[in-house]
Amino acid sequence: MTQLWSADNRVPLFVFGLTTGIALTAAVQYLVTSISGTPLNLRAAADEDRDHRSSSSSSSQQGPVAQRKNVETATQRLERQFTISTAMLHNLVKAFIRDMERGLKRDNAVMKMIPSYVIRRPTGDETGTYLALDLGGSNFRVCECTLAGKGQVRIRQKKFVVSEELKTGTATALFDYFAECVSSTMDGFGLDKQAGTKLGFTFSFPVQQQALNRGTLYHWTKGFTAEGVVGQDVVGLLDAALRRKGLKIDVTALVNDTVGTLISHAYLDTATTMGVILGTGTNAAYVERLENIPKWTGPKCPTNEMIINMEWGAWGQDGIILPTTDYDVKVDRASPNPQKQSYEKMISGLYLGELTRYIIVDLISTGELFAGRRCEALEVQHSFDTANMSRIERDHSMELTDTRSILEDLYAVKKTTLADRRLVKRICELIGTRAARMAAVGIASVVTKTNKLAGTTVAVDGSVFEHYPHFANRMRDALRELLGINAEGIVLAQARDGSGQGAALIAALADHGEEKLQ
Ligand code: BGC
Repeated sequence: MTQLWSADNRVPLFVFGLTTGIALTAAVQYLVTSISGTPLNLRAAADEDRDHRSSSSSSSQQGPVAQRKNVETATQRLERQFTISTAMLHNLVKAFIRDMERGLKRDNAVMKMIPSYVIRRPTGDETGTYLALDLGGSNFRVCECTLAGKGQVRIRQKKFVVSEELKTGTATALFDYFAECVSSTMDGFGLDKQAGTKLGFTFSFPVQQQALNRGTLYHWTKGFTAEGVVGQDVVGLLDAALRRKGLKIDVTALVNDTVGTLISHAYLDTATTMGVILGTGTNAAYVERLENIPKWTGPKCPTNEMIINMEWGAWGQDGIILPTTDYDVKVDRASPNPQKQSYEKMISGLYLGELTRYIIVDLISTGELFAGRRCEALEVQHSFDTANMSRIERDHSMELTDTRSILEDLYAVKKTTLADRRLVKRICELIGTRAARMAAVGIASVVTKTNKLAGTTVAVDGSVFEHYPHFANRMRDALRELLGINAEGIVLAQARDGSGQGAALIAALADHGEEKLQ
């Protein structure tokens, strides 16, 4: 460069040389991240990756990203931001396993890795009749489960809606409502309300368990904020409400839905070692050997195994590793639990529609969708349900007619073009695919860490896994990229309504004294 300098043009040439140098360095970094994706330092890689992804169309950033932006179409820009390459999947698995190990060592880790006090899986021979309550998200179910042995269960159940008012009200109002639901269901089924029936309570939130039937809520998730529950023993709250209603019921097990799903599937298929929920929220439970849980200071356990409720939805909330975009940040900031449940916010049903909505609104503002015509209905928080994405992804018509009817009839967007509809469909595909690939990261990490690569059954429940088109196949693709031939042995089995049944089964195991720790 020096030989190009002259007295007349020294400054312009120096500036030219410097900017070219910066641009080249940035371009090389960009290529290294997107091609190899295996940086030595995960934190540095995540930072670089975030810069690379964080250019939403409204960003005013300068430099190479801004230059590229001018020539990119909206589709290309979103593909760059939302695609998780195979190399990135591998990096994420490494970081995930590291964070699982941290959670098994100490109580205040990001991924909580909570010992569930469930120390064995059913044999399939358990029998008896138990009550089960299941609070997952917007629904509360009261079930009577009759375990008939040989993996057979008969269930009678009633489902109740938990209103927004109850979700965001007080502990007393919420638990009195549960007691009322139990009482009316028992009346309806003709059950004796004074018989001291044993009950398993599935409470699908992060709870620190102190015993099989005792545990305090760490914090709410999934839009709940009811006061007076965080830090309290939820079995104590339920007991008190049942007593206020005059019901004599014995709550013998407190269970996370993932643990319930694992146990109820194991009743049918003893090869089951993992339970996963991909629904309104997301989480997983798996079987861990006691010597791998250094933080366990409880009594010795005869089976030497413990089911761990991972609370994996919290992963990434320390802001280090997840490949988030500006849109993820918007969803997070507007949620009732900012900077919490980061992994959950990339995967689960409560958030996928909301992410899509933010992208659509952004592309309207830049004129890249609907010729820039504002759509008020889409400006309302949570107005775009994940179920719409399922319909759009299922729309294979030439003119994308169902997509048109969603946009024009439900959201009153005036006259969409085929190009608009194609772009909206592509957004759904990108968000849905990223969610499935991120979910596969969690499963691949658990089977790798627990050395189950030779084969195991993973029971998966939840509306996203069950109803979102291609979700399971996209997960399988990612598992193949991560585990190669070993992915063939990982069976993703659809589990349905397992969480309630699982609570009944755990109550049964407790009833027979088999869950006792020594
Ligand atoms: C909760 C978990 C639960 C999952 C699925 C998450 O928000 O923290 O406890 O298992 O949702 O329902």
